[in-house]
Amino acid sequence: MSSDPTVDSTVKQWKPYRRADDFGTPAAQSDVSVSLTIDGQAVTVPEGTSVMRAAIEAGVSVPKLCASDSLEPFGSCRLCVVEIEGRKGFPASCTTEVAEGMQVSTQTPAVANLRRNVMELYISDHPLDCLTCPTNGDCELQDMAGAVGLREVRYGYDGANHLSAEKDKSNDYFTFDPSKCIVCSRCVRACEEVQGTHALTIDGRGFASMVAASDDVPFFDSECVSCGACVQACPTATLAENSLIEMGQPEHYAITTCAYCGVGCSFRAEMKGEQVVRMVPNKDGHANHGHSCVKGRFAFGYATHPDRITSPMIRDSIHEPWRKVGWDEAITFAAGRIQAIQQQHGPLSVGGITSSRCTNEETYLVQKLVRAAFGNNNVDTCARVCHSPTGYGLKTTLGESAGTQTFDSVLDADVIMVIGANPTDAHPVFASQMKRRLRAGAKLIVADPRAIGLVRSPHIEAKHHLQLRPGTNVALVNAMAHVVVTEGMEDQGFIEARCDTDAYETWRTFIAKPEHSPEHSESITGVPAAEVRAAARLYAEAGNAAIYYGLGVTEHSQGSTMVMGIANLAMATANLGKLGGGVNPLRGQNNVQGACDMGSFPHELPGYRHISDPAVRGEFESCWGVSLLPEPGYRIPNMLDAAVNGEFKALYVQGEDVAQSDPDTQHVTAALRALDCLIVQDIFLNETAKYAHVLLPGSTFLEKNGTFTNAERRISPVRKVMQPVAGLEDWEVTCALSNALGYPMHYEHPRDIMAEIAALTPTFSGVSYDLLDRRGSVQWPCNAERPEGTEIMHEETFPIGKGHFAPTPFVATDERTTRKYPLLLTTGRILSQYNVGAQTRRTSNINWHDEDRVEIHPEDAELRGIADGQWVGITSRVGETVMRAVVTDGVLPGVVYTTFHHPESGANVVTTENSDWATNCPEYKVTAVQVVPVSQPSDWQQRHADFSDRQEEALASATRVETTTS
Ligand code: SF4
Ligand code: SF4
Ligand code: SF4
Ligand code: FES
Repeated sequence: MSSDPTVDSTVKQWKPYRRADDFGTPAAQSDVSVSLTIDGQAVTVPEGTSVMRAAIEAGVSVPKLCASDSLEPFGSCRLCVVEIEGRKGFPASCTTEVAEGMQVSTQTPAVANLRRNVMELYISDHPLDCLTCPTNGDCELQDMAGAVGLREVRYGYDGANHLSAEKDKSNDYFTFDPSKCIVCSRCVRACEEVQGTHALTIDGRGFASMVAASDDVPFFDSECVSCGACVQACPTATLAENSLIEMGQPEHYAITTCAYCGVGCSFRAEMKGEQVVRMVPNKDGHANHGHSCVKGRFAFGYATHPDRITSPMIRDSIHEPWRKVGWDEAITFAAGRIQAIQQQHGPLSVGGITSSRCTNEETYLVQKLVRAAFGNNNVDTCARVCHSPTGYGLKTTLGESAGTQTFDSVLDADVIMVIGANPTDAHPVFASQMKRRLRAGAKLIVADPRAIGLVRSPHIEAKHHLQLRPGTNVALVNAMAHVVVTEGMEDQGFIEARCDTDAYETWRTFIAKPEHSPEHSESITGVPAAEVRAAARLYAEAGNAAIYYGLGVTEHSQGSTMVMGIANLAMATANLGKLGGGVNPLRGQNNVQGACDMGSFPHELPGYRHISDPAVRGEFESCWGVSLLPEPGYRIPNMLDAAVNGEFKALYVQGEDVAQSDPDTQHVTAALRALDCLIVQDIFLNETAKYAHVLLPGSTFLEKNGTFTNAERRISPVRKVMQPVAGLEDWEVTCALSNALGYPMHYEHPRDIMAEIAALTPTFSGVSYDLLDRRGSVQWPCNAERPEGTEIMHEETFPIGKGHFAPTPFVATDERTTRKYPLLLTTGRILSQYNVGAQTRRTSNINWHDEDRVEIHPEDAELRGIADGQWVGITSRVGETVMRAVVTDGVLPGVVYTTFHHPESGANVVTTENSDWATNCPEYKVTAVQVVPVSQPSDWQQRHADFSDRQEEALASATRVETTTS
């Protein structure tokens, strides 16, 4: 373990994880208790508990191989047999439920004998190359052989050892070694029950039976999505992580939080020294309950990728090579530039962008730096381009800018409506939980222009897929609400008790107008009226109906209107303030929620309190010791426009890549070029950093302490398990810059920053690192009234008192198809990649998605003479780019779709400056385009390639200078 005092004290000695604290079967959920005796010991457990679990909970160990408490009981290995007074034979304890008065014996001679016989059979068919086996020391078969006291194998050891069986190494992250398989089916069941993909099966019978990816193809070519659940479940070395095979067993671990999506999965970072051996999903993680996806589980290699920026660098112009300098010189250079610019162009000529990938503490410090050290409110965050309408819409209607539920709440939903989100790709672990509920019978409504994966998957079929035209969300939600009120399905009791009835009456009159009927809206949305009516009835009469939405809701010219429309629908049907209901924005990046909570917006201080409120401002002024400007500062689009106009001169960007992620790339890069000083703090030379004058090395989530807040408002710890490659954590860099600017910032540890956040933010006042250590995580609001946090919001009342129904008139976007641009482009994400791809493209995840492609309907493709895989030009009124086509009926005729994970594909060269009326969130989801076959990259792509090459060379020559002078 590290002796570095800043390495978190919660780093623990490693112990085998597979068998640690596994109770064999899931916990039973019952208020009824059952009492029995196990080996003479009195035990009381909830009804429905297995005998195995009751025994293990009471401290009585029972051998097992096919059982795991992450899976339903299966009863195939027969190792867990027991004797039960009055019952014949030897029942398997994993599949036998407790009964009142039952007397169980787990250790009789007959039971021991039977177990040894079972083990003999397993061992006679096993390679027994334990000393060279990757899971030596963490193998349940080894343990069980010891536990049952196996001393001889009557069938001999020269049975089939299967060592000639070919290993499946098709997946870069794990290996399938069939020689070691004991056919316990745990992997198959994990894939079905935990992940919901059903990619595995057992082929053959008896000793010849074998696990196989369905269709009997290698793992990589199968339906497997590389979530790792089967690897986690496997009790032997049959399925093992390649990193474990290469490095051997870990030495220590720390509990930390995934730095990818907004699910916020908890992981054990299992380490050897400062090397990650593997990331194991934490069974006690409240957001993921031991599950993971390919990104968090396996795609951590970017942290040690040779492309990491490892030294601060400066240059006077973007046409010069970088000069590698020490931290002091870089910080002095950056601070000097900012001060000079402010002297010449005024205090408002500089600003900063916080990161949704950095910790709460880091984000808080960047906005503090801008407000206190820069002396203005020109701070914004990438939530501007994703979920800012959520903030506006939910705050207006419900009074708080956050999702209302825990993820677990979905297990109580009777109807799940997914609008403009693609959880299986963008929020995969939550999608698995959602799928579990859907397989158990909940009904699904999907509103999306594309047939996302959820619409039809094993044992799941959406009851309604409302395949609407891009840009018509508001017309659709209004039509659903129209059905609710005109067919008398509103919950009058809830409305009268919990909502502003005057606002409700106004809204009701508005929504009941014939122009909002499904029949009228059909020509706008393209969704048949009968389908809308049926979906509205299903939602309204569900009992518990939950809405989950994503960027397909927010990234529109009416993003904020749609969020309010969703909240109206939930209020009208009383689907708020209870388990199984709610309105839930699925946040894209790991800390979007946190970045917003921490006061990253130009108009809001931490806790969503307006900068113009003198009382709120006064609290911060007295704590920070400065005067704050009462007027909101620039949003990102304003900063970019002002830069192009020559009024905005310097920008500090921590952990964001506006040059790739923001719309109308050519406008963004023109703005970046126009800056006199661009300071980028990042882990790689991203697209924005290519325009920088100061490049400050960022630290990954493995290199720092802090917290992330996920989409369910859950604050979870991030733990330092290795030193930052350039010596400083991101928060330390912000402090250094602030100090150099003359505004002192001194913290010993991020826990001190959190203490300041808690002191200044009412919804965080109970949050502390001690609380997180004790609970693992906590959902805000966490304060004196709710010291253990808040799982479900709005149970009794709304933060604004009464829920506010807001009229939501549909206004068609200005972005319309024309003869010149006859198709509508919409964009989205793919499972293996994360946002701009800077991290995931530097891992083996690239194997699943090595380029962005544009999906086009067969009719549109045929009309244009486009074949699958062909290069096509996509042209909008602002730009052109070239990608390969995928011809698919997954998109509607008239709609094309692409991902945006690769900079050279230039998806945002095409997207326009249109934005949400309330928040300026860009209208990524609707761009009128033409698509035609082409034979060469676009002009932009050629210019981009030239510029990128020059910048890579500038970086490489900086490295060479240091190499030759050292
Ligand atoms: S990695 Fe996940 S999806 Fe793939 S086979 Fe295993 S459990 Fe199934
Ligand atoms: S691969 Fe592992 S989990 Fe799957 S059946 Fe074989 S031993 Fe069991
Ligand atoms: S990317 Fe998201 S779903 Fe995947 S492990 Fe990380 S937090 Fe979980
Ligand atoms: S653990 Fe009970 S039958 Fe396998």
